[in-house]
Amino acid sequence: MATDFTEETAADAVVESFAATPDPRLRELLTSLVRHLHAFVRDTEPTIAEWERAIEFLTATGQKCDDQRQEFILLSDVLGISMLVETINNRTALPSRGGLGPPPQAARPAGSSPRAIPSRGGLAGSSPRANTATESTVLGPFHMVTSPRRALGDSIDLVGTGPQCVLEGRVLSARGTPLPGAELDVWQANDQGFYDVQQPGVQPAGNGRGLFTAGPDGAYWFRTIVPTYYPIPTDGPVGTLLEATKRHPYRPAHIHFLVTAPGHRPLTTHIFVAGSPYIESDAVFAVKKSLITEFTPVDDPALAARYGLTGPFQVANFDIVLQPRS
Ligand code: BEZ
Ligand code: FE
Repeated sequence: MATDFTEETAADAVVESFAATPDPRLRELLTSLVRHLHAFVRDTEPTIAEWERAIEFLTATGQKCDDQRQEFILLSDVLGISMLVETINNRTALPSRGGLGPPPQAARPAGSSPRAIPSRGGLAGSSPRANTATESTVLGPFHMVTSPRRALGDSIDLVGTGPQCVLEGRVLSARGTPLPGAELDVWQANDQGFYDVQQPGVQPAGNGRGLFTAGPDGAYWFRTIVPTYYPIPTDGPVGTLLEATKRHPYRPAHIHFLVTAPGHRPLTTHIFVAGSPYIESDAVFAVKKSLITEFTPVDDPALAARYGLTGPFQVANFDIVLQPRS
């Protein structure tokens, strides 16, 4: 190894220093990291002052972190890295059904839920795309607590503000068969764009959260309020970065889902409210078209009564297809 440091040989020298790393994956990651970082520095030729500013920024990012706040994940989010890692690790193309045709309609036992709207072709009809599992998206920082267990049909809104809505759908296998007993952990912000954990003492703990078990036909449904768009936290270095680059901090309206079923890969995803502001410019790049869901207005007292509601409401239908555990 050359002992004289030069711009041309620097990356090779550092890569060589890791040559004896026993773990081959760690060696591969460090080699690639060093090569990319050195290429970045050679490309951009930062001044000493710029380098010091970068170190200050990363230091402040670390100092902002505590048990409640993870500024490094937020940085990864706004740089699109969280979504890239998520997407690489959850590719959704399923093995071909080999001529089996469309997934079978699940038999729906009479009285299994008060749903008036069939999950395919109904008022808010959505249906999974052929040969494609439901796409994943970021977990986000607000899944900090275990959601309170609730019965199908319960409301996760403990406050009663905001436009009321019903969410319903089925949890299905890749073959289109229902997954009875699938667990759905859901969480969302309130109508002001805050999660319960951001407003202790203002919102009751567990507001906007619920842990549901799908019924015998794989169906789930619950009541809530239509969520609104909201800003990611901007009172730290990531906020400074967004401000300096004239980027807005908003996420389009969404509801988080974490869905599990035996023999299947857990799915972390959202449904996004169609037409929400910022749907085209999510601050954390988490929107996938397949997750955008219509919230259909209903003004029908008889239908409202079937859902235990009074007055107009909105209904959204979101079927979830899980990938088999490989
Ligand atoms: C969220 O949706 O809860 C979220 C995701 C990424 C960053 C901040 C918030
Ligand atoms: Fe969120």
